[in-house]
Amino acid sequence: MRSSVPGAFLGIAAWMLMTACSGTSARTRQGFILTGGDARRGPAAIFKYGCGSCHTIQGISNAHGLVGPPLTGIGDRLYIGGVLRNTPGNMVRWIQDPKAVDDKTAMPRLGVTSPDATDIAAYLYSTKEE
Ligand code: HEC
Repeated sequence: MRSSVPGAFLGIAAWMLMTACSGTSARTRQGFILTGGDARRGPAAIFKYGCGSCHTIQGISNAHGLVGPPLTGIGDRLYIGGVLRNTPGNMVRWIQDPKAVDDKTAMPRLGVTSPDATDIAAYLYSTKEE
């Protein structure tokens, strides 16, 4: 019974967030609700850290890298880096410090800040394989 109060609060908060983002696409809103990040700021952050030199990412110019796996539509994948369950929190964790998750991974730690990592995660979840 007690848990229904925060549940209702979260429902209202989610509705308010959706209303706040109502000029944007459903996918952008979905990324926002999942991660708390702003998908519209994702591309600038992705560009800033040079993710596209190693990854192919839909909608990002010059993001055609082939060192790591393509990140378009990663929301549909079950694991991150083959080791971590794909949840919004884990996505942010991986982007900030992949070597803390898997010390053998070739992806470097790029010093991504928490706000940038949540915006990037929101953007990545808003992409979809054609
Ligand atoms: C120097 C190359 C390099 C850079 C730069 C790089 N990555 Fe990676 N990334 C990799 C490699 C290699 C993997 C595969 C890691 C593994 O499976 O251990 C990877 C894996 C990932 C994955 C998991 C993909 C999957 O299919 O499981 C995500 C998400 C990711 N990177 C996001 C980013 C983001 C966001 C940035 C920029 C902040 C970035 N990467 C920058 C090389 C890079």
